[in-house]
Amino acid sequence: MENNKLYLYPALIRIWHFLNAILILTLIISGLSMQYSDPLKPFIQFDVAVSLHNIAGLILVVNYMLFIMGNTITKNGKHYRIQLKGLQDRLLRQFRYYTFGVFKHENAPFPVTKKMKFNPIQQLTYFMTMYVMMPLLFITGLPMLFSGAFIRQLLGNGAFFVTDILHITVGFFLSLFLVIHLYFCTFGAKPYSNFKSIVTGYHEGHH
Ligand code: HEM
Repeated sequence: MENNKLYLYPALIRIWHFLNAILILTLIISGLSMQYSDPLKPFIQFDVAVSLHNIAGLILVVNYMLFIMGNTITKNGKHYRIQLKGLQDRLLRQFRYYTFGVFKHENAPFPVTKKMKFNPIQQLTYFMTMYVMMPLLFITGLPMLFSGAFIRQLLGNGAFFVTDILHITVGFFLSLFLVIHLYFCTFGAKPYSNFKSIVTGYHEGHH
């Protein structure tokens, strides 16, 4: 068992990930409350939801910048660098494993190693989430927070509306990512193994 354990998530990644998860959950809950609740009977009182959303958003931006810096100066960033050559083939093999292989107890086509801790599908989704969706979330969120009046004055009410719709759309896709992320995290050696890993740092292999 011991030699099956790989140290994949150093403390800094675990702390970043924990903060990231808490903040995103806060943003989803306060965001949904602002968007959908009955103004007379809101899930969270409207002005409280707005403050919560603004503060959590700002801390998320700082936490994100630390993540990007960490990935730039440490080796963790290499896990996010996608090799385009043969990508489609690798994605298909992993997809086949997720849809059939897993249920037939086949061996994973891309077993977890220290050099490659993400399988191709994980790598692509983590890259899209962290390097595409998160920046889009900030690019649409920060202007509404700091220069809503400015956007309205310069480009009219329509521009504010477009920014808002884009922000909500990105938020929707990130929420979708979270649900899928949680589901796929159950595909470890045991259903709870990966959740244990992101707390202890050690990946538990099969066998
Ligand atoms: C309740 C919330 C969450 C739980 C329980 C959770 C669980 C996990 C687990 C078990 C892992 C390790 C397995 C793996 O690498 O696939 C992981 C890694 C990761 N998660 Fe999450 N997650 C949560 C929220 C999020 C959110 C909101 C994001 C991004 C928006 C996210 C992004 C990531 C990334 C990028 C990694 C890989 C980190 C690295 O090693 O560089 N997670 N998560």
